[in-house]
Amino acid sequence: MGTSVGLLHPGAMGAAVGGLLADRFRVSWVSAGRGPASRRRAEEAGLTEVADLAALARCDVLVSVCPPSAALDVAGSVAATGFAGTYLDANAISPRHAEEIAGILPRATVVDGGIVGPPPRTAGTTRLYLSGPAAAVADLFDGTVLRVVVLDGPVGRASALKLAFASYNKLTYALAAQAHALAERHGVGVELRELAADVLPDTPFGAPGGITSAGRRAWRWEGEMAEIAAACAETGLAPDLVVAAQAVFARWRDHRDDDSVDLAALLRTLAGPPS
Ligand SMILES: NC(=O)c1ccc[n+]([C@@H]2O[C@H](COP(=O)([O-])OP(=O)(O)OC[C@H]3O[C@@H](n4cnc5c(N)ncnc54)[C@H](OP(=O)(O)O)[C@@H]3O)[C@@H](O)[C@H]2O)c1
Repeated sequence: MGTSVGLLHPGAMGAAVGGLLADRFRVSWVSAGRGPASRRRAEEAGLTEVADLAALARCDVLVSVCPPSAALDVAGSVAATGFAGTYLDANAISPRHAEEIAGILPRATVVDGGIVGPPPRTAGTTRLYLSGPAAAVADLFDGTVLRVVVLDGPVGRASALKLAFASYNKLTYALAAQAHALAERHGVGVELRELAADVLPDTPFGAPGGITSAGRRAWRWEGEMAEIAAACAETGLAPDLVVAAQAVFARWRDHRDDDSVDLAALLRTLAGPPS
């Protein structure tokens, strides 16, 4: 019998990753606690629904791709099943939390992962960094569009690389939004957009359309900023810059997964009280 994989959970990224695996393995998921969008994504990705977490934990490999703020709880609920297979945590969490997850699951082989790039649909866009006992999962994605990069070193190293990248990339959206909101408030929004597009065209500042997508995902990025701030503090770096970005993203909390929100609404929300 082939390798069986359980996915926690089929979000935008999780379903795309699960879909790649579903071409080669039986990939299962559980619907308890999940909404209709997760169900739709799971069905489109060809995943098999199982009754409960205990059934999912009979898989050889579990892959956790969930909001960073939920990663420890998800690992804890898996630990309660006595899971003793391979557990890949592929979330944007601090290296210390990655180590904690390995501690929570003493009977499992825990691999640390960090995904960089959009949900993988074509080659060359998305990487999965791995550290720790990576051999347990490294070849699962052979022949798929997801590029696997194995790092030397223990659990925590892949998460550190992911967070370091995100600490630059995601903060650029917070900076751009704050600047455009400031200009709007002072009646020079059009002029700033023209200036930024001319001087810094290939950035969220010069092409602020990307801020709209950031606004919809900010509820999740808020938790990711908390993980980055913790990682900074653990190494003696000042976390203040990241904490400030967390506060910016917190103001967009009410726009969670809202496909209808536009840039103007997001900039207005920034100028209001935190939601
Ligand atoms: N999307 C990207 O472009 C991207 C890029 C790089 C890395 N990642 C990483 O991928 C992970 C997930 O991203 P995503 O895009 O798949 O997120 P997403 O689209 O928001 O989906 C999150 C999934 O987790 C479930 N979920 C929500 N709240 C939960 C909770 N409290 N406990 C357990 N599960 C919960 C959601 O289910 P319901 O909503 O149905 O409840 C959904 O299935 C993150 O760690 C992120 O850093 C994503």
